[in-house]
Amino acid sequence: MADAVELPGRKKLFIKTYGCQMNVYDSARMADVLAPLGYGPAETAEDADMVILNTCHIREKAAEKVFSDLGRIRPLKQTKGTMIIAVAGCVAQAEGAEIMARAPFVDIVLGPQTYHRLPEMVARAARAGEHVLDTEFPAEPKFDFLPAPKADGPTAFLSIQEGCDKFCTFCVVPYTRGAEYSRPAADILREARGLVAGGAREITLLGQNVNAYHGADPRESTRSWNLARLIRALAEIDGLWRIRYTTSHPRDMDDDLIAAHGDVPQLMPFLHLPVQSGSDKILAAMNRGHTRDDYRRIVDKLRHARTDMALSSDFITGYPGETDQDFGDTLELVNEIGFVQSFSFNYSPRPGTPAAMMKPQVSDAVKTERLHLLQQILDAQLRTFNTSCVGKTFDILLTNAGRYPGQLVGRSPYLQAVHVMADPQLLGTIATVTVVSVEAYSLGAVWARENTSAASA
Ligand code: SAH
Ligand code: SF4
Ligand code: F3S
Repeated sequence: MADAVELPGRKKLFIKTYGCQMNVYDSARMADVLAPLGYGPAETAEDADMVILNTCHIREKAAEKVFSDLGRIRPLKQTKGTMIIAVAGCVAQAEGAEIMARAPFVDIVLGPQTYHRLPEMVARAARAGEHVLDTEFPAEPKFDFLPAPKADGPTAFLSIQEGCDKFCTFCVVPYTRGAEYSRPAADILREARGLVAGGAREITLLGQNVNAYHGADPRESTRSWNLARLIRALAEIDGLWRIRYTTSHPRDMDDDLIAAHGDVPQLMPFLHLPVQSGSDKILAAMNRGHTRDDYRRIVDKLRHARTDMALSSDFITGYPGETDQDFGDTLELVNEIGFVQSFSFNYSPRPGTPAAMMKPQVSDAVKTERLHLLQQILDAQLRTFNTSCVGKTFDILLTNAGRYPGQLVGRSPYLQAVHVMADPQLLGTIATVTVVSVEAYSLGAVWARENTSAASA
């Protein structure tokens, strides 16, 4: 790897990423903007001249981790003499001043919307003693100032939408990421073509509310494209075999998008569509703007459009006022829909959000008991789905080396990891495989037929 070669004057950058895929995308972009300053990747924080913690504020535990990690990095800076420490992302946005006060050895605190200005911030921090705090929501979108991302393997993230105007009562995202913004379609198509030219075969479109996308039409910028229109245009890019998008909100799951699942073969039959709760009372209190029946109807339409549609969701247990009956409604919905994979969390009161002040708060013991029960059901659904795949033949995109020599890992249409014996030269191609076994978090498969490395699933 060329990056591992130490050039004279070369500096090393270590980025630790917490939170969602948006942060993963942002971390890669931060590395891109710092590359012209001579920063290449470091394997560890010990090894680095600059450390960035790209943080997440979604739950208390995530936010607290930042301060404990900073405590571990501080002695490194003392030993080395010089090291730039930056805290980026959603904790930085929400608690910038507190970070500066609690951890004065931090040089730079920057929010998710200002990292295009990092080179300038680094230059200022390099001047002894200057601390930089930049958590503005600037008028200019950062995307206009970022270098074109390079593909790093067969799968890539592409951020198309940012921020959130929905203000669910439990959630910090509208405060940490700011108002909804959709990138112009022309910019996204250009970025996607660049990624495909660099070898990406599967692109996941990212946004906090990705299906609320309404970016400028490439030909008539006063009009906008919705996500379905954008997906149809992306599907015309030669060499882009697979398209995914995340995270979606049920309220924005319009008929155009559902129809695209039926007739755009590149659009993968797996959708993360968080419902949070199955109780209408709790959904209303959360300000989600839909009922459990609305959710059921969306799922029915999706399955009508594409029969093999697999769904995953996020759930919150112990939202203020959640009774056993409300929780029972969630379990009922889970049993009815049948998710193939999900994330579930105890409700975590977040400073400044309306739900944190609501009464009655549910005790930690009850939250945890409900969470365990829910997770048992979700785990069983995951196992049932994986087991149902045994004997099935489908296309996987070979993405990584496996744990054993001669083995590669691929991604199924439903986002499962699938192991198969294959020549490493086949990385980045499609393999048609038959599933033969189920492991804890993956499937084992054998070749169904010779590799054709052409079409998608
Ligand atoms: N925009 C997405 C979710 C983004 S946040 C949506 O509307 O579905 C990711 C997930 O974190 C949420 O789906 C929710 O389940 C969880 N989450 C957000 N705030 C939380 C809180 N205060 N406590 C517990 N979980 C939370
Ligand atoms: Fe948070 Fe709700 Fe916005 Fe999702 S839609 S990011 S849960 S406020
Ligand atoms: Fe966390 Fe911010 Fe993502 S709070 S989940 S990193 S948008």
